[in-house]
Amino acid sequence: MEMDQLVALCKRRGFLFQSSEIYGGLQGFWDYGPLGVELKRNVREAWWRDMVTAHDELDVQPGAPATYEMTGLDCTIIMHPQVWKCSGHYDLFHDYMVDCRESNGRYRYDQLQGRWAEVDDKRIFVAVNVSGDEALKETQRKAMKYFNLRAKNAEKLHWDGPMVDLTTIENLAEVLGPDAKTLGTLTEPREFNLMFESHTGAVRDESSKVFLRPETAQGIFVNFKNVVDSTRVKIPFGIAQIGKSFRNEITPRNFTFRSREFEQMEIEFFCKPETSQEWYKYWRDRRFKWYTDLGLAGERLRLRDHDPDELSHYSTGTADIEYAFPFLAEGEFGELEGVAHRGDFDLRSHMEGKLDPNSCPLEVEKDEHGQPRYRGSGKDLSYFDDQTKERFIPHVIEPSAGADRATLAFLCEAYQEDEVPNDKGKPTKRVYLKFHPRLAPIKAAVFPLVKKDGMPEVAKEIYRQLKPHMNVFYDEKGAVGRRYRRQDEIGTPYCITIDGQTLQDGTVTIRDRDTLEQWRIKTEDCLAEVQKRLNA
Ligand code: GAP
Repeated sequence: MEMDQLVALCKRRGFLFQSSEIYGGLQGFWDYGPLGVELKRNVREAWWRDMVTAHDELDVQPGAPATYEMTGLDCTIIMHPQVWKCSGHYDLFHDYMVDCRESNGRYRYDQLQGRWAEVDDKRIFVAVNVSGDEALKETQRKAMKYFNLRAKNAEKLHWDGPMVDLTTIENLAEVLGPDAKTLGTLTEPREFNLMFESHTGAVRDESSKVFLRPETAQGIFVNFKNVVDSTRVKIPFGIAQIGKSFRNEITPRNFTFRSREFEQMEIEFFCKPETSQEWYKYWRDRRFKWYTDLGLAGERLRLRDHDPDELSHYSTGTADIEYAFPFLAEGEFGELEGVAHRGDFDLRSHMEGKLDPNSCPLEVEKDEHGQPRYRGSGKDLSYFDDQTKERFIPHVIEPSAGADRATLAFLCEAYQEDEVPNDKGKPTKRVYLKFHPRLAPIKAAVFPLVKKDGMPEVAKEIYRQLKPHMNVFYDEKGAVGRRYRRQDEIGTPYCITIDGQTLQDGTVTIRDRDTLEQWRIKTEDCLAEVQKRLNA
């Protein structure tokens, strides 16, 4: 599947639109249309139900070291600025970027790569903003153009070494930028904080500055004590939250994959330090299984454990759940979710003050006067186990997923093309979205075969039978084959058709989107039949 086909379908059928499109759009912001909003709600609801409300806390779940409890939270987007100082986002949550003086392009310093090209005695570094095979082709094209070479004298061009990151280049004057025609147009890398800023109250000065949260996780940490004190939860337990996060990404791209406003689905799972490794492994596998259960099975999904040198020293494990999105080069994967063992870093930072992530054992980061750089809340965020009479700071396992990335992956995986006979029996191309029924925006469509002979009346009765329980669509316009195709294209798993036989024996046909199989059921059994299949 080419990404362009999916993007076109999403716009045509109302899944996703560019934000503020009539004004030319706003980079990194996306709106979910009538079908997109249902799809994303289904993703969020599946997550909340599977992780929180349907969790059985009385039984040990498969793969879990013990029983555990799950609870939820919904906190504000704007929080006390000290939250971000102690969490580290204020100091550390930045990227380096380079600007191009010629093209006005802005690039993430660590995402540009290139190779050294030589013609006669002249040697330049050709930088590009793509990866994989694309990068090889693009550097070749750019170097040929720069040196004014035609295909017949391409042998004059020599490559000195493999593709390397721009970060390894000392002298940017020798670099040909990704969209530049002349050398040395890239600026030195500059720091760029990804948090959006705003102000509370009427006065706009440093003291009223606040931030839009760049993750939902911190809201959970700062409410840890509230949750423990107001409920009867006992460790081990998890707090889940779904909500908007904001990052002023330098290079938003790849449809909704890297947006500036997006939604996260995060769990902070609190446990005893000595069992934390077992819980980490449990959550890593549990979260991977969630995606496979909802249809992301196969080679395009993988679980990748971070190498020890990728881990911060306070984390004893991090794994990414990754998907081979079609916009990535062959063999590349994009992150859907990170599952991290965070030790006691976050709770301690909010208690004692921002910890220095490079200290070992962890210590509060000091300023030039030897004082804590950012003071913590001073509140006791330890936990007292009334059975063992122990007091300790819980360790945390954090499965952190993106609702928009998951929705995008489900869309990419669902996109299918095949050939099926049309109304006249001629094989024609069909595009359909093979969503898991739980995720499908519309669960069933009801069609009267023709708009007469009492068929619309029966169809409307069935529609009303189903409607209180699920999202159902009624359609009486056009040839029935065309109506099926319209539903296939938006991923409706079942179509119910009322025909001449219905009026004689009270049965209707039900058609399966994927197998195209059709069978007859009694009119009054429609709800039970669809419900049985949706929950199968
Ligand atoms: N609390 C940990 C945390 O926020 P992260 O890896 O920065 O970790 C977690 O983000 C998830 O949030 C990612 O795996 C991704 O699904 C989603 N996410 C992060 N940045 C995003 C962006 N700019 N656009 C869309 N989704 C994003």
